[in-house]
Amino acid sequence: MALLELKGIARSYKTGQIKVDALKGIDISIEEGDFISIMGPSGSGKSTLLNIIGCLDKPTSGTYEIAGRRVEKMTDGQLADIRNRLIGFVFQSFHLLPDLDAQANVELPLIYRGISGRERRKRAIAALESVGLGDRLHHLPSQLSGGEQQRVAIARAIVGDPAVILADEPTGALDSRSGENIMSIFRDLNHNQGKTIVQVTHEKSVARYGHKIFHLLDGEIERIEVVNDSISQEVRVK
Ligand SMILES: Nc1ncnc2c1ncn2[C@@H]1O[C@H](COP(=O)(O)OP(=O)(O)OP(=O)(O)O)[C@@H](O)[C@H]1O
Ligand SMILES: [Mg+2]
Repeated sequence: MALLELKGIARSYKTGQIKVDALKGIDISIEEGDFISIMGPSGSGKSTLLNIIGCLDKPTSGTYEIAGRRVEKMTDGQLADIRNRLIGFVFQSFHLLPDLDAQANVELPLIYRGISGRERRKRAIAALESVGLGDRLHHLPSQLSGGEQQRVAIARAIVGDPAVILADEPTGALDSRSGENIMSIFRDLNHNQGKTIVQVTHEKSVARYGHKIFHLLDGEIERIEVVNDSISQEVRVK
C-alpha cells in the first residue's frame, strides 16, 4: 500500500464567472521513503497539488488516501491532527514568526501538541543542531540569512518527527550555494532518516535530488522522469 495515494484528483476554482481547472485528474502513488520533485510552468497546478497532498486544501473530486485512510471522510479535527503529526511543511518564503527567535519558532508545532516546555526545548535545540544552527538559537529571523531562515523552517518542519516533508520551492528565495545546502539536508533526511519528501521546484538541479520528477502541464501529469544514479552523478560533478 502506498503511503500517499491520489486517484483522479481534480481541483477547480470559481472566481466570478471564470472557472479555472487547476488540476484535471491526477493519479499518483507515493511510497514511504520516496523523494519526489514536481516541476512545471507557472500556473500548471504545482502548489495546488502540494496543498492537497498536505491536507491544506480539498480536491473538488477524486480520492486521496494517506496510509489507507480516506482524507475526504476526515473531520477538520482529524485533518489538523494529520497535518500536525504526519506532515512537515517548508515554504519558499520560510513563514517564520518575526517576533520569535529560532528556538521559539521551532518549538511552536510542539506547543500545539501539548508537549512540556522542557521537552520542547530539548527537541527544538536538537532539530536546530541537526541543520547546523546550534549556535543561532536565540537569533530572530531578521538576524538570520535567507539560507539560515530556511534551515530554521526545516527544523520546525522536522521537530515533530513527521513521516512526510512537503516543500513548495524551498530554494526559490536562496542563492545557489544556500540552495545546495538545503538540498543536502533534504537528501540526508530522506536517505538516512527515511523521510518521504515531496518538493516543488523550478530548478532542474534541485529537482534531480529527487528519485522521480513529476512534470505537470495545465493541471495534468505530462510525464514522470526517473532520476537514475548516472544523472545524479552528473549533477554532483558539475
Ligand atoms: N485561490 C485561488 N482562486 C482562484 N484560482 C486559483 C487559486 N489558486 C490557484 N488558482 C489558479 O489555479 C492555477 C494553478 O495555480 P498554482 O498556484 O497551483 O500554480 P503553480 O504551478 O504553483 O504556479 P507557480 O509556479 O507560479 O507557483 C492557476 O491558474 C491559478 O491562477
Ligand atoms: Mg506555486
